[in-house]
Amino acid sequence: MLISNNVSLRGYNSFGFDISAEHFCSAASIDEIKEALEWRRKHNKPLLILGGGSNTVFTRNVEGLVLQVSIDQIKTETNNDSISVYAGAGVNWHHLVKQTVFNNQFGLENLALIPGNAGAAPIQNIGAYGKELCNNLISVDTMHRETFERLTLSKEECDFDYRHSLFKTAQGADLIVLGIQLQLSSMDNPLISYSALQEAMQNTSPTATEVFNTVCHLRQSKLPDPQVIGNAGSFFKNPVVPRQQVDELLARYPDLPVYPFSDKENKLPAAWLIDRAGWKGHRSGNVGVHNKQALVLVNHGGGNGQQIAILANEIQRDIKQRYQINLEREPTLY
Ligand code: EPU
Repeated sequence: MLISNNVSLRGYNSFGFDISAEHFCSAASIDEIKEALEWRRKHNKPLLILGGGSNTVFTRNVEGLVLQVSIDQIKTETNNDSISVYAGAGVNWHHLVKQTVFNNQFGLENLALIPGNAGAAPIQNIGAYGKELCNNLISVDTMHRETFERLTLSKEECDFDYRHSLFKTAQGADLIVLGIQLQLSSMDNPLISYSALQEAMQNTSPTATEVFNTVCHLRQSKLPDPQVIGNAGSFFKNPVVPRQQVDELLARYPDLPVYPFSDKENKLPAAWLIDRAGWKGHRSGNVGVHNKQALVLVNHGGGNGQQIAILANEIQRDIKQRYQINLEREPTLY
């Protein structure tokens, strides 16, 4: 296992920001992770765990050790129609979705083309087109960063919610995700309840492979490819707003799309609020708001995390002023 010094993280964050890590290590096994953690303890260095780098916005160089978990095995067990798949934290998420769908192991098709690795998926409970990771998750395999203790958390213990989990709280912050156990099926019975997906499908009873292809097409037509234009997917969560406030907003903006959430609350599309406020396609120097999806902040090249943080603050302030809504950031600022 190699610990390198002064490593550029440009290729390790999906915004493509050119910041550096004091020390960097990519660990492909449990033993290598332990070795890196021991090294870090011996040298008394701060630690940052990195997955595919699609959920961290770097605003400065990183002091201490950046540890990338790159365990990339996929193991499959089949029992009649039920298929259990274990994916190491370093498995590229889209690769996993594609491989399972192509092997007639269904369930992840709606989650195609989400950037990042399998290890980051439970942290924000990735979701798209009517599905969330937690719908197919059995458990998360973890290691405590101080005690090195292995702990397998059941789905219930992960406390999943919309773009939220235990791993985003102080209670779960010390756990390093090693891998995830998923429940898939050989039954080709995809979920197409999400209206934008239904509208895009020619077929009213599509196969999972057709859903996979449609989701890929939808995402490619709206969302920038991080390999081409740096971004971290949706930069803000869709806000959950009390029904009374939704009614007041609807009186002012009758075309505001409103989604169900709970008895007393609705979820509103942050993209619509930002778009209607005139931010879509906005550019501040080398960073800006994507011109096809207002929820995505982009690095046009040569931008940095501080510029993204300033732009995000300006958008949050404007949305608060216009609609009295607090937009919550999705990625973590470092
Ligand atoms: N809209 C606009 N302007 C835009 C984009 C969208 O007015 O620039 C409107 C649309 O017309 C629609 C509404 O906003 O009425 C919602 O748009 P869309 O269906 O594209 O989805 P979203 O709410 O913007 C969420 C997820 C995406 C996921 C899509 C599809 C969040 C924060 N984002 O976006 O997730 O792909 O639904 O399910 O929940 C991600 O997390 O990185 C991500 C891309």
